[in-house]
Amino acid sequence: MQKQRTFSIIKPDATKRNLVGAICKRLEDSGLRIIAQKRIKMTKEQAESFYAIHSNRPFFRELCDFMISEPVVVQILEGTDAVIKNREVMGATNPAEADKGTIRKDYALSLGENSIHGSDSIENAKIEIEFFFSKDEIVG
Ligand code: CMP
Repeated sequence: MQKQRTFSIIKPDATKRNLVGAICKRLEDSGLRIIAQKRIKMTKEQAESFYAIHSNRPFFRELCDFMISEPVVVQILEGTDAVIKNREVMGATNPAEADKGTIRKDYALSLGENSIHGSDSIENAKIEIEFFFSKDEIVG
């Protein structure tokens, strides 16, 4: 049991369908605390840099185009074992494989338009938080 921070993005398919509140409620009901949050329109450069690890994958262009298509909400979540907890609440990347009651099972449209991103490790959470937030934006 460890107090951690993780990073989350409520993606364009969800902001477009007015699901920000519903998704935040799922996160908060799980015990995670939203300690920083902002609605932004990601730039092409930001999307390509954030997802650089996937730059050789066939879906990279589609992924970046999607992430800049509508506003997103970037968040820092804090709580006990926040990285794993958030991944449990989100469900599997592919909504077809996500467990019942998870965000992706209930809201995602497809593997690409899967409503929410969450860091996959403590190390990546730190990198992803620093990518989008300055220290003075983390208000607790
Ligand atoms: P995310 O957790 O944001 O991390 C990378 C994203 O790439 C992933 O969620 C999916 O939305 C997307 N992705 C992964 N595999 C595919 C795929 N085969 N086709 C389209 N998008 C994908």
